[in-house]
Amino acid sequence: MRKPIIAGNWKMNKTPEEAKELVAALIPLVKDAACDVVVCPPFVDLCCVGNLIEGTNIRLGAQNVHWAEKGAFTGEISAEMLKARGVEFAIVGHSERRQYFGETDETVNKRALAALNAGITPIICVGESLEQRESGVTDAIVSSQTVAALNGMTNAQVESLVIAYEPIWAIGTGKTATKEDANATIGVIRRAIAGVFGEETAEKVRIQYGGSMNPKNAGELMAMPEIDGGLIGGASLKADDFSKVVHF
Ligand code: 13P
Repeated sequence: MRKPIIAGNWKMNKTPEEAKELVAALIPLVKDAACDVVVCPPFVDLCCVGNLIEGTNIRLGAQNVHWAEKGAFTGEISAEMLKARGVEFAIVGHSERRQYFGETDETVNKRALAALNAGITPIICVGESLEQRESGVTDAIVSSQTVAALNGMTNAQVESLVIAYEPIWAIGTGKTATKEDANATIGVIRRAIAGVFGEETAEKVRIQYGGSMNPKNAGELMAMPEIDGGLIGGASLKADDFSKVVHF
């Protein structure tokens, strides 16, 4: 019922020339994908990647979005600017933004609302640290991050967006959550959504897993009932690896 969605988060990698090379290699490899395929290059690559993927099944995402329409916000990019470049998705609240750039539950919520209002689908990231997992507060953390991120949204908005469950300890470490743990925590996220917006809405939200997802483990993760997709870091930087995840 929920269409799987595999998104590549390139993070701070690839110059425009390198980005073009990667996406040109990717286009033929994923053209028959059964899932939604999204690439999220750095801002400076959005134009050239957007031009290359026009008319293909690859969709464009950004790695962040500001909440204001325009103005004196040096270094930020508005939803309207992204929309004008053909951007359909925006990652919001990635743990690296929360950890290194002062992103809070409140700013995540503002960014997500701005994206939705501009017709961009937010991919909202939540996830616990290793310390939080070891002290048994994972469920409480992901639930409160989720509820805070969705504050003030309508049911229709919530149904349209994507959530990425990314345990921080699994990001870039080669340590993947077990499929059972990932499935269980995503179930917790879905129940937190149901608690505020009702069961019917919660059942429609696509929730990805992210954290060292790769061609080897994508199949077993994607076979789990709660896992609707993947947000892929390292393995999205090679066309071959990313296409194998897409064809999980
Ligand atoms: P890795 O796949 O490199 O662990 O990164 C996951 C991630 O943070 C995607 O947003």
